[in-house]
Amino acid sequence: MPEHQRYVLAAYPNGLPKETDFRLETGPLPTTGQGEMLVRVIFIGLEPRLRLMMNPTNESNRAMRPEGGITDIGKLMPGTVLGEVVESKAAEFSPGDLVEGFLGWQNYAVCSPRGYNRRNNPAGITRCDPAQGPLSAKVSVLGTPGLTAILALRHEGRLKAGETMVVTSAAGTVGAIAAQLGKLAGARVVGLTSTDAKAKWLTDELRLDAAINYRSTKDLAAAIHAACPNGVDYHFDNVGGDMAATVNRLLNPGGRVTRCGIVAKYNLTDKEWHQSKEFAGQFTVHDHVAEYDEARRELSRLLKAGKLRCPEKIFDGIAETPRAFIGLLKGENIGKWLVRLGPDPVPRA
Ligand SMILES: NC(=O)c1ccc[n+]([C@@H]2O[C@H](COP(=O)([O-])OP(=O)(O)OC[C@H]3O[C@@H](n4cnc5c(N)ncnc54)[C@H](OP(=O)(O)O)[C@@H]3O)[C@@H](O)[C@H]2O)c1
Repeated sequence: MPEHQRYVLAAYPNGLPKETDFRLETGPLPTTGQGEMLVRVIFIGLEPRLRLMMNPTNESNRAMRPEGGITDIGKLMPGTVLGEVVESKAAEFSPGDLVEGFLGWQNYAVCSPRGYNRRNNPAGITRCDPAQGPLSAKVSVLGTPGLTAILALRHEGRLKAGETMVVTSAAGTVGAIAAQLGKLAGARVVGLTSTDAKAKWLTDELRLDAAINYRSTKDLAAAIHAACPNGVDYHFDNVGGDMAATVNRLLNPGGRVTRCGIVAKYNLTDKEWHQSKEFAGQFTVHDHVAEYDEARRELSRLLKAGKLRCPEKIFDGIAETPRAFIGLLKGENIGKWLVRLGPDPVPRA
């Protein structure tokens, strides 16, 4: 019998998390009750928003968690996973089904598809169609990041050919997918990122029209202005803060902004959070659950046609999860970072 391994929050981080803010616990596998199923986790998909969930719940972050704290000291670290149902007492799922859900940093998870109804993922556990693309893509292009990009562009971007789109954190998962969708819509697309290597990847590999290293550029407003001679029609903002304000000042009349994320603020100390009011009014992908199936089919079509890609780096073994997560928050990633916890499912006859 395998043992159960899970990461719990050991301490509230102050700024960038440390590996000692997480603790690996082991024990016997959890058992399923009526209506529940046991999921073997294959991939954990790392996401910057988990950092926010590591803060104690208080007034400044309550908007993120109307149902109360998602984790706390000694409790499971949250996180999106892709896994295989290995045992089921739930009518909706059978052993062998591939599922995606917010089941946390653990190698096995017991969950109930019916009782599972978080605001952060109203669709609960999603059944994945293996034919739509590789397993790892189910937590990137075919998962929440891809859905966020395509649905934000559809509902808020409404890009017309020839318009100009600026994407922040453009070499990240959501940013890279949004930028490519912008190019497919016929827009001029300019990406912002933190290193020359990432900027080069954006122009050489994703074929963006321009990319700006916001760290080394002395006058960011002038650099964006030069890269966007016709102004900015759509700002896909993953970052918030001063960088977002700089881009927004260059918006044309009728310009649109998707406030997708505020990763620039995720590592604030708890005290600084109390002064930050940037949560309100952000785009929320889970407001568009009814469109998920159709949007996934479109993303799968683009992925298979080679029109959309997202590089990934796969870390091996649950013990790598905190280190990889901290690297993501430091901006070391290009595209999606995942942790592999187990092998792909054996195809069933
Ligand atoms: N609204 C929604 O429904 C929804 C859904 C999913 C995700 N999101 C949000 O979308 C954003 C992107 O998510 P993702 O999963 O694709 O992550 P990601 O962009 O891959 O996140 C990591 C990147 O954030 C950037 N970053 C880190 N610290 C920063 C700082 N202090 N200032 C500026 N940039 C910083 C780094 O990029 P650079 O090196 O380029 O700076 C880093 O590579 C996140 O804010 C996430 O919370 C929103």
